[in-house]
This record gives sequence, structure tokens and C-alpha cells, in this order.
Amino acid sequence: MKQSLYFFILVMIIGCQIAEPPKNPVISFNQKWKFITGDRDVYKSPEFDDSEWMDIEMDKIWEQQGYDPYDGYAWFRTRIVIPSYLKDNSFLQDSLRIFLGKINNFDQSFLNGFIIGVNGKNMPADAVLDTNFIHAPTNYWDLERRYTLSADDPRILWDRENVFAIRVYDEGGQGGMYTGNQELSMTSVMEYLKFDNNNQPFDFEGQNLSKSFSIKNNSKSLTLNGYFTIEARGKLDEGELYHLNENLTLSPGESKSYHLVIRQLEQSAKITYGFDFEDANQSIILEEESPYMLTPIPGQEPQINGPGIYGARPGNPFLYAIPASGLRPMTYQVEGLPKGLKLNKNNGIITGSIKKTGIYDVILKVENDLGKDQKSFQIVIGDKIALTPPLGWNSWNCWGLSVDTEKAIASAKMFKQKGLADHGWSYINLDDGWEIPKDQEPKRDPSGKILTNEKFPDMKALGDSIHVLGLKFGIYSSPGPYTCGGYTASYQHELQDAQSFADWGVDYLKYDWCSYEQIANDHSLSELKKPYFLMRDCLDKVNRDIVYSLCQYGMGEVWTWGEEVGGNLWRTTGDITDTWESLSSIGFGQVGNAPYAGPGHWNDPDMLIVGWVGWGPNLHPTRLTPDEQYTHISLWSLLSAPMLIGCDLERLDAFTLNLLTNDEVLAVHQDILGKQAIPVIKTETMQVWVKELAGGNKAVGIFNLGDQTEKFNLLAEQIGINGTANIHDLWRQRDVGSFGSAKTFLVPSHGVVLIKVIP
Ligand code: GAL
Repeated sequence: MKQSLYFFILVMIIGCQIAEPPKNPVISFNQKWKFITGDRDVYKSPEFDDSEWMDIEMDKIWEQQGYDPYDGYAWFRTRIVIPSYLKDNSFLQDSLRIFLGKINNFDQSFLNGFIIGVNGKNMPADAVLDTNFIHAPTNYWDLERRYTLSADDPRILWDRENVFAIRVYDEGGQGGMYTGNQELSMTSVMEYLKFDNNNQPFDFEGQNLSKSFSIKNNSKSLTLNGYFTIEARGKLDEGELYHLNENLTLSPGESKSYHLVIRQLEQSAKITYGFDFEDANQSIILEEESPYMLTPIPGQEPQINGPGIYGARPGNPFLYAIPASGLRPMTYQVEGLPKGLKLNKNNGIITGSIKKTGIYDVILKVENDLGKDQKSFQIVIGDKIALTPPLGWNSWNCWGLSVDTEKAIASAKMFKQKGLADHGWSYINLDDGWEIPKDQEPKRDPSGKILTNEKFPDMKALGDSIHVLGLKFGIYSSPGPYTCGGYTASYQHELQDAQSFADWGVDYLKYDWCSYEQIANDHSLSELKKPYFLMRDCLDKVNRDIVYSLCQYGMGEVWTWGEEVGGNLWRTTGDITDTWESLSSIGFGQVGNAPYAGPGHWNDPDMLIVGWVGWGPNLHPTRLTPDEQYTHISLWSLLSAPMLIGCDLERLDAFTLNLLTNDEVLAVHQDILGKQAIPVIKTETMQVWVKELAGGNKAVGIFNLGDQTEKFNLLAEQIGINGTANIHDLWRQRDVGSFGSAKTFLVPSHGVVLIKVIP
């Protein structure tokens, strides 16, 4: 089996030794910026007097600096002398590097009145400028703006004052230049050396893990000389796994490949690639961590997975596919199936409709050539659905607005083919991008019914092809006139849209505030609730169980009233992205909202960022390390947070599949008590979160947020255990001893030990 993974931490350390005069200097210019909202051409002119503009900090979105909520155009300006010593003291002396940080969402950047770059792309001084830059992919907010000018470019005024003017367009939500660290430097020799380790994933080969790695000189004229090393060590025990060092010379355009083979361990290997440039006094170090699989490979005997409870409303269409792993063919049986429901014995899909409210206790049974399994299961017919947090896939974190019918169908097929459905993953949700764009007509038919764009010719057929696999179909809209991506939304057509969704067989609606910002009078609670109440009423009229997902980024502490407006889940934060900063600030920030989570109503800290992600047509392997990914799935399971996979399922690798199909971890997520974990210990680097489980056990996540492996001593009483208790490692699915009064755990940096404590 050739499977793989990759992910890396890219750490470029510029080994810049400070002597006199400084070599390869870097000038910071993130101070003294001026700011104004609005848009005038004259703002780019160096002569323009911006002294009346307000001062702005460069490391915060403008919403946090008095411009909440402001969407649209704004300008940032600063003045700086660019000293020629920058050039004189650099090794190459050929080009000036201008780093502007990240910009939310789009930019046209000017130097001394001349354009230098647009949305991260260098521009010649005579480039034609128009407003098209605001129609770029929405994920550009996460893109670093690095512009480069040749040292002799007349746009640079050496040793004189220069004026930077940045025209920013915020298309919705947060806005501005927000990362700080604006810098000027000269291009360095290091920029010509490309380490390619990211798109050459690891292969799992028996006991070993291997990967190809190449190093390339991208310069057209420079020969690069240096000393190259690769070292791999166990992340926890620091034992050496691999070592190579050699003198390396790469002529212009030349590349060299290496093949790394290391033993597979129950921990990451920390791999360090280093190149010391001869003469240039600079070095590149790149570090990555290898994947390791913890979930034991499931046996071929039949096993019923998934929740122990499922809710539906009386009289509405019912669909539940019994998730079961093991050798096929498999036959299914349900003891005590209530009247109105029908089981397909060959695929385990239960359909029909139940008129009478009540709790129906049934026994699910499966059998294959190797054995049998059975599980008690409750069907609860009443007014509540989503009794356990949804598990599924959503198109946004991978395909962004480039989603189409084929990609949705492929995802549904992959749920079956790769076996995700056997472990309880069931929703296939379209996010934004299926509607008619803002600038296209007609958006609706003469009766007002919403139209789909050419990528979605037949929504009903799409829904059918998802349902036939026993999976559920989700969709996206906004209470405003347009979605965040600029497509038609439900404003003033709410009931018609709810009816269309029901006609197409939709089982899940994500309803995203976005352009409702223009409709709402203010952010008072009644205004925040209004559009969500309205759609709730409409959904209630269409006789279909549609999970209602509120998306308004946590405004007005939505967790305190999300259930009141009929939501089954609500986003508690802004958008997540595939970095440790984003994951850890969002995930570990879910404090204080636990009392509001429970069966039928969940806090949603946004979708998963494992596998190949990208928010548009071009995907990349997640930038999270394997330990960060274990943290992600463990934390979301403890939080009872909905889990929607956001990656290309056709490129699902062995590691990610293994990560997403641990039935013991998923059982914590699907626990019928529906509690959300709370933090019981917080030190500078360590956090311990505890989730109470049905039956009196506890799931405990011991997280290391620091940069070093920690030996952590957990006292039983700190997690509410008096007396002894057995400890079961959930990822490894094995018992690991018991608590006396304390136990020590070795926790990798950014990683987790996830245990079940059985008193
Ligand atoms: C954002 C939302 C994302 C995605 C996007 C679509 O507001 O938070 O999850 O749905 O809109 O345009």
C-alpha cells in the first residue's frame, strides 16, 4: 500500500551574524502608519498630506481599532527613508524585498505613487490598474504580501524619504493590514535555494517511513556552495534515526534529490534539513515532523460504530445508515424497528417515517463471514435533531468557491470507498459557490425561486445521489442579499429558499450572516437574532429535518441564544485556517460556552483543517504537524464540536484516514450525554480538559501548547477522581495502568495524550 503524508513546519532561520557593519540588514517599518477609510486616487500620491489621518497599529484588524463594522476601501500610508547601507551590506545587492505582512482581503500597493504589487504579485510601474483586484479568491487574506524591486528600479528613492501607500479592500468581516512585521531587506542568496519537502509526502512502507526530498538552485547565474545536513531524531526520545552531511555545490538551475528512510515509531521524527552557505554568512534550516499512526488498524470482524442515539421529527422523512466496519458483504438487522421504518438488509440503510413521538429502543445487528456484532440504539422521535454533534464533510476549506457537482459526488463516494461512512461520517455539505454570482442575471426564476449556477445543473439529482449512499446532503446560504463569496442569498426569499432546499432533499443548512450586515440596523441582540428566527420559521414549514447551522462568527455571544432561535449549532469564532496559531487560539479559546452545548445544540469552532486544504482550486497539505492534528481531533471531540472534514477526500492519505477513523475517539465525540469539555488545568504551556461521559467515565485531554516535550504529572484529584481509576489511552486503544494519586504523562510539543478515566 503506497500511502503518504507530509506537512511541515517551515522554519527559516536566517543566521545573520551581527558584526560591524551589520551583514544583510533588515529594516522594520511597522510603526507610524496613517489610515483612512474611503477611496481616492490622490491617496497614492507621495505629495498628498496625510497628517490629518488617524494613526493605526499594524498588528490588529481595523475592527479592533474603532472601525467596527467597516467593510470596503481604506488606505494605509507611511514614510520611510530607505538607506543605501541596506544594499551595500548585503551579499547579493540585487533586489529590494518589501514585506507588507498579510492583508484582509485585497491590496494594491504603491511606492512613491507607482504601483509595486497587487494581491501579493509584483507589478511593473506601468501596469494597468482597475478594480478587478477586489474579485480575487477570498482566501487571499491569508497570503503574505512580499514585493520585490530591482535595486536600480527608479521607484525606490535611496537615502531619501519614500512613501508607501496601500489601498485595501475588505469584502466583509475583518479588514486591514493585520500581522505587523513590515520589513525592508535585500533579497538574500537563500531565496535562490529551494528545499522541496512539502509536496513529496511520506510513504508508509511496512515498518518504515520514507520520503523524497530535493534541493534546487533557482538562480540563473549564481553557483551555490555550502554544507548540507539532514538529521532525524525521535521527537520524544531524541534518539537518532538518520544522519547525512556533505559539501554541496549547485550550479545555476541544478537540483539534487535525496531519499530518506526512517523507522516508523509511535512518535514523530523531527527532521532538520540545513544548508550553510559558504561566504554568505547565512544558513537555511527547515524542520518538519513525520506522521505516525496511532489508531490500530481495524479488524475484519464486524463492528457497529457511530452514536447510540438518533433523533428525528414525527412525520418527516427518516434516513439513518448503520455505520459498521468489517469485511463485506455484511448483512444488517434491527430488532424492534418501529412501524413506518424499513431496513435495507444489504446496506444497513433505514428509511421511512415515524408518525408517533416517543423513544424507540432497538438493537442494531450486523453479521459477516467472520462474526457478528450488536449495539443498543435509541431512535428518539420528537422535536429535537442532531442529538450528537454532526460528522461530515464541507467543501469550503478545500475547494472554496471552486466547488462543483463532481467534487461533491466524489466526496460522497470517498466516504463510502475509504470507509469513513463506516465510522459515522455522514454529511456531505456544499458551502458557498453553488448560487448565481452577484453580477449575473437572472438570479431567480420569474416566480422568485432561486437558481443554481452552471456547476450545479440539478440539485435534486445531487441530493439523490448522496442519499442513495445513506449519506446526508447539506447546503449554504445567507440571510442577506448575497453570500460572503458574492453569490445570491436568501434575503426576502427565505420561505421559497427553504422550500427549494427541502425539494432538493437538503438535510443541513449553514446560514451565514455576511451581507445581512447591510440590512441589520445594528448589532443589538434583537437585530442579531431576527434573521435566524425568520429562517427557523421557514424551515419549520417544509416538513424536513434540516440541521440548522448558524454562522455569524460568535457575535452577541451567540452561544447564549443560539438554541433560542432554533439553531442546532453556531459558529463561535471567525474562520479557521491551517496554522497552529489559528487552531490553538480558536480551539483553546472555547472556554465559558460549555454550559450551552448539549444534545441538539452545539458550539461550532469551525471546520477541520487536516488533509489537503486550500480554499480554492489549488490545494496544499495542511500546514499542521501530526501532533497538531492529533490535538485538533482530540480537542474537537472533547468539545463535542461538530466535525466537518475540509479536505480533498480523493487525496486522503493513510495518516489522515487513520486520524479520522479512531472509533474510540469518535465515541467520545458522539457520547450521548453531549457534554462539552472544560479546562481544569492551565499552566503556561500545559492544559488539561475534561469531558464527562455517559456512565460516569471521563475523557481527559492533556495538551502541551509549548515548544518542548513535557513530562506532566497529573494528580487524580485535579480531574475529580478520588480513589483509584483505570486509564485507557484512546488513540492507541489500550489500557495504560491506573491512577493511584498521580500519573506522569509524556506529551509532545503541540501534541496531546487523550485518555479515558474509568473510576
Ligand atoms: C464565511 C464563513 C466560511 C465560509 C465562507 C463562504 O463567512 O465563515 O466558513 O462559509 O463565508 O463564503
